[in-house]
Amino acid sequence: MRVQFPKNFWWGAATSGPQTEGRFQKKHANMFDYFYEIQPERFYKHQGPDTASNFYNDYKKDIRLMKEAGLKTVRTSIQWSRLIDDLELNTLNEEAVTFYNAVIDEFIAQGITPMMNLHHFDLPVELYHRYGGWASKTVVDLYAGFAEQAFRLFGDRVKTWFTHNEPLVVVEGGYYKQFHYPMKIEGKTAVQVAYNLQLASSKAIEKYRALKLDGQIGMILNLTPPYPATQEAEDVQASEIADLWLNRMYLDASVKGSFPVKLIKLLEKEGVLWENSEEELEIIKANRVDLLGINFYHPNRVQRPRYSANSLAVDFVPDKFWQPYEMPACRMNVDKGWEIYPKALYDIAKDIQENYGNIDWFVSENGMGVSNEERYVNEQGVIEDDYRIQFIKEHLYWLNRAMEEGSNCLGYHLWTPIDCWSWLNAYRNRYGLISTNIHTQEKKLKKSAYWFKEISQTCSFEV
Ligand code: BG6
Repeated sequence: MRVQFPKNFWWGAATSGPQTEGRFQKKHANMFDYFYEIQPERFYKHQGPDTASNFYNDYKKDIRLMKEAGLKTVRTSIQWSRLIDDLELNTLNEEAVTFYNAVIDEFIAQGITPMMNLHHFDLPVELYHRYGGWASKTVVDLYAGFAEQAFRLFGDRVKTWFTHNEPLVVVEGGYYKQFHYPMKIEGKTAVQVAYNLQLASSKAIEKYRALKLDGQIGMILNLTPPYPATQEAEDVQASEIADLWLNRMYLDASVKGSFPVKLIKLLEKEGVLWENSEEELEIIKANRVDLLGINFYHPNRVQRPRYSANSLAVDFVPDKFWQPYEMPACRMNVDKGWEIYPKALYDIAKDIQENYGNIDWFVSENGMGVSNEERYVNEQGVIEDDYRIQFIKEHLYWLNRAMEEGSNCLGYHLWTPIDCWSWLNAYRNRYGLISTNIHTQEKKLKKSAYWFKEISQTCSFEV
């Protein structure tokens, strides 16, 4: 059977500034630069973001390789900590302006449409130390100012923008699961940060619209559809609460302009509802997204709390109402412990179609992380990553089914074009179509890159 996609489908890949550029010529440290400075032992093999995949120096070569892999669209991000010179006065770092201009022009020269995100876990750390980071409304306003600078500078050529990548991860990692700096367990702050991130997105959208640029703007959400472990009422209820917090909060606010009432009531009951003004709620209502980017890696199997995993928490944490449940004998995204469940993409698409006005969206990340891929190098020196091809095919298959049923999905972006540095995992999980030797910076197409080029040209593949 041949799976056929529309001719104008976005065949692309996603990456981010902090994971590729390296710290070259950067005036400010972001949250992860700093996290690595103070606790290098938390990072896989103690490897930090100093060189990343050397995109700052190698961008021309890298973009040429992306073209060779058949990519038609690429999402990366502009680092606030690079673009802005004085974080209070919102003045520009001219070297960074030159760099991002050159990157955008190079993408366009190579026939690749660049899409830009403005926050990928990389708040300038000074703003955390001075104001408390995303818990502070001052930071929200500074962010909107930075976003406006980016729109003014690059909005003539960049036509698709995103305000955040995975705001939920900033909240979870930084404020109750401790895998991002500042590694707190503070339920009330977590809730405020979640709200402030949404407010920041809406304020940036307001700035974008005021400039009357010809383009579109959205937010990138990691959706992890929760499936209850059983159909017993308590498991179903646990999964509904997880859904409200993990998915609906940003979905509803971004697309419908207001937060789910059930979530507000729950947070109120717990005494942790965020602080907001009427004026802010109006801004959120008036500045909805044009499109959604959806990152999907794994579903969430959810059950009612059966053991006291949250005993560490001194106060409310959002996930005290549910616990994960592992599917027996399921396939895992290699080395990650993430269940492979491609049909969830179909479920996500149907949800958007049925509950969010069938708004335009695309898969902004999906991918398979594998360590020690050198194991699979053939005699020609090419990594034979058939597992990745299979993984992509299965996800595209379910996406295609939803599109045949009317879902407005515009494209599929793989994480990631070129193996890059990734947060605490550093260089452990390789997701790229193109490999990177982190010692020599040699970059080489994997088997999946040749395959991806074929599907991006024919817009179809055989299953
Ligand atoms: C996504 C993030 O959630 O997961 C990426 O947006 C990240 O930035 C990717 O790199 C994979 O994570 P990891 O830790 O397996 O490399």
